[in-house]
Amino acid sequence: MTGNQEKRRACRNNIVLVGFMGSGKTTIGRELSKTLMMPRFDLDDLIEERERRTIPEIFAESGEAGFRKAETQVISSLVRSGAQGYVYSTGGGCVTVAENIPLLKELGLVVYLKISPETVIRRIGRDTSRPLLQTPDRESRVKQMMEEREPMYQAAADVVIEADHGRIPEIVDEICRARKEL
Ligand code: S3P
Repeated sequence: MTGNQEKRRACRNNIVLVGFMGSGKTTIGRELSKTLMMPRFDLDDLIEERERRTIPEIFAESGEAGFRKAETQVISSLVRSGAQGYVYSTGGGCVTVAENIPLLKELGLVVYLKISPETVIRRIGRDTSRPLLQTPDRESRVKQMMEEREPMYQAAADVVIEADHGRIPEIVDEICRARKEL
């Protein structure tokens, strides 16, 4: 086994939730954290702490590129720390930076919470806290972004969970089962 493979195995205790905005990464992460008694961190919160700015402020002042740079730095430092036994809820766009994909896989078991554009619109149709969705034609923006990102989520995922129905205990169960099987 190569050093990298060994490290990846060692980090498999972590669970990394990925998926589009509104897919339930935070809610499901919280439940998973309670069920498995594993502490949870939200990458968006870690970015805000590190930058001492809110996400809308980072986007406004440093653009999406500045935000992505901070996001990659946070993911890399978590991988480097070698910490295990955590649930991480990521930001919906973390898969859009190619170098993040192997890092996410190294960080832990990557679970993709897959939802439809209709679910996104239903759940976060009026949200004002997400800079990338502040556009009059939110529906087509969501569809276009989801289409572009789908192959990236698939490339990152170790496990894909259909999360449209929103039954949280069932989704948590599915993740726990998938984790045992791997
Ligand atoms: C983003 C998703 C957000 C946040 C930022 C960018 C994206 O996180 O990281 O606004 O590019 O999809 P959530 O998925 O938690 O909303």
